[in-house]
Amino acid sequence: MSIPTTMKAAIVTAYGSPEMVEIATRPVPVPRDDEILIKTVATTVNSGDARMRAVNVPTGMKTLMRLAIGITRPRQPVFGTELAGIVVATGRNATRFAVGDAVIAFPGTRLKCHAEYVAVSETKPIAKKPENLSFEEAAGLCFGGTTALHFLRKANITTGEHVLVIGASGAVGSAMVQLAKNSGAKVTAVASAANAELALSLGADAFIDYATTDYTAVSSAYDVIGDTVGATSFQRCLRALKPGGRYLAVDGGIGDMLARPKDGKRSIAGMAQERPEDVALLADLAARGHYRVVVDQVFDFADIAKAHARVDSRHKRGSVVLRVTE
Ligand SMILES: NC(=O)c1ccc[n+]([C@@H]2O[C@H](COP(=O)([O-])OP(=O)(O)OC[C@H]3O[C@@H](n4cnc5c(N)ncnc54)[C@H](OP(=O)(O)O)[C@@H]3O)[C@@H](O)[C@H]2O)c1
Repeated sequence: MSIPTTMKAAIVTAYGSPEMVEIATRPVPVPRDDEILIKTVATTVNSGDARMRAVNVPTGMKTLMRLAIGITRPRQPVFGTELAGIVVATGRNATRFAVGDAVIAFPGTRLKCHAEYVAVSETKPIAKKPENLSFEEAAGLCFGGTTALHFLRKANITTGEHVLVIGASGAVGSAMVQLAKNSGAKVTAVASAANAELALSLGADAFIDYATTDYTAVSSAYDVIGDTVGATSFQRCLRALKPGGRYLAVDGGIGDMLARPKDGKRSIAGMAQERPEDVALLADLAARGHYRVVVDQVFDFADIAKAHARVDSRHKRGSVVLRVTE
C-alpha cells in the first residue's frame, strides 16, 4: 500500500466551542523504530476530547488542566485518544504487529487519533481488533472500558456486592455496568428513563430514573457507588453507602479527591491509568461476546464539530464515533 506524505487531521488551535475544531492538512508521521503506523478507519470524540477543547473540567481543576495541556491553547492540537484501523508500516524494531493487521490502539493522553494516520509505539495499549466488532465499535472499546476497569479494580469488588452506576448509559457507565456484572456484582443503573432498556440489556439488575428518584436518599444500600458523570459527591453518597463502602469519583472534583475516609467509607478519585493489559482484556472480553461497545452515532470526519457538540450534550449513549477513512 502506498502511503501519502500528507493527511487530513482535525486540529484545535484555541479553547472554546465545537466550531473551534477544523480539518487541516498535516504531514503523515514517519514511524520511529519502535512504532507502527496505523491508517485510522474510525476514532471517537469522547468526553475527554470535549472537556479539553472547552477546558470544561470539575471545580478546582481548570488551572491544573491548562498547565497539563497548554496555558493559552492546546500544545497538542490533534486530539483523539483511541482508534481502530489498519497497520500500514512498522518501525525497524516493531515486531508485535504486521502490515495489514486490523488493530485497536489507545494512545490515551498522548492523543493524535483525530487524523488519517497515527504512529504509536508498539509498547502502548494496542491489540488486534476483535473480528466480531465493526471498526466503529472497536474504536469505542478503550476510553470508557479502561476507565471503568481502573476504578473497579481500585474498589476491589467481591462477588455479590451491590454496585450503583450513575450515568450507566455513557461510555464509562455502560462499561462499568458490564464489567461490574462480570465481577459477580449486583448492579443498579442510574440514567433517565429513555436509557432504562439499554442499561438492563447491558446486564443491570435494576434501574433508577434520576429524574424521578433521589437514589442517595437511602441508608446503607450500596457497597460501591460509581458516579461516572459527576452528578453527586462522596459527601452526598455517604448515607447510601454500606460500612466499608467505596465511592468512585470518575468525574470528581478536588473535594472528592481530598475527601478523607469516613465511617470506614472512602472516596476513590484521580486519573485512570492507560494499561496495555486492560486493552487486551477488553478486546478478549469483546471477542468472546462478554463485552459490548455501545455506539451513539457515527459522524463523517468532516463533521467532527457536530460530533463534539453531541458529546457536549452530556446525553450521548456510549461512544460518539468518527468514520475517518474507508
Ligand atoms: N477519571 C478519569 O480518569 C476519567 C477517564 C475518562 C472519563 N472521565 C470522565 O468521566 C465522565 C463520563 O464520561 P462519559 O463519556 O462516560 O460520559 P457521557 O457518555 O457523556 O455520559 C452521558 C450519559 O450519562 C447520563 N447522564 C447525564 N446526566 C446524568 C445524571 N445527572 N445522572 C445520571 N446519568 C446522567 C446520560 O443519560 P441520560 O441521557 O439518560 O441523562 C448519558 O447517557 C466524563 O466527564 C469524563 O471526563 C474521567
